[in-house]
Amino acid sequence: MEKKSFTITLDGPAASGKSTLGERLAESLDFMYLDTGVMYRAVTLAVLNKNVDVNDEGLVTKVAEEIDLDIHPATIDDGRSNDVILEQEDVTWEIRLPDVESNVSQVSAYKGVRVAMTKKQREIGNRGGIVMVGRDIGTVVLPDAEIKLYLDASVEERAKRRYLELINRGKQATYESVLDDLKRRDKIDSSRAIAPLRPAEDAIMIDSDHMNAEEVFQYIFKLVEEKKNLQV
Ligand code: CDP
Repeated sequence: MEKKSFTITLDGPAASGKSTLGERLAESLDFMYLDTGVMYRAVTLAVLNKNVDVNDEGLVTKVAEEIDLDIHPATIDDGRSNDVILEQEDVTWEIRLPDVESNVSQVSAYKGVRVAMTKKQREIGNRGGIVMVGRDIGTVVLPDAEIKLYLDASVEERAKRRYLELINRGKQATYESVLDDLKRRDKIDSSRAIAPLRPAEDAIMIDSDHMNAEEVFQYIFKLVEEKKNLQV
């Protein structure tokens, strides 16, 4: 099937600014935006809701394979980028709770969980015209994507951003606990056997430590426009 349009993948560690950049790119290009992290978070929430032991790989995989999950463009203007619907229920904010946060990396390291989610992501991604955000999108999910981006920043800078994000949403958090959680998740995400967090060989690397969101966007948008013009 011929692609309608090209595909952009955007990978990187937690709180590196992927969703801010991804959403803005998608909006400017009139592309679809999909943050695959919400899918792993939704599986984790389903596991917790069903009281399934997160250490039981077989049962967790079964939950991922049978999950009734729907992700579509936001219908409520409350800062969300997508509606996340699990078993007919809107869980867009519930998947951000600390319980999900602390178990999601373990759940998403299981092979069967990844196979199930990757299949769903490819079905959506192969239609083209999408900015897909995650950890393994450029390396595993859509390795033929036209543009691959990898957004990074130091763990201290990322913790600062995530801490402010939580406080602005009225949540309780300390900088130290956010920093510890990011370090723990980074470690699991980068060291897992299947689809670990790493840049694709042909990814454009962006270190956002000394760049604000606007500068990152302008820099990438220019690159994307150049690449797009080359393709017509
Ligand atoms: O928003 P944040 O960067 O904190 O995390 P997220 O993108 O929502 O992803 C949550 C977790 O899901 C990550 O820490 C990974 O363990 C997992 N994940 C993954 O394994 N593969 C993806 N493509 C996306 C997320």
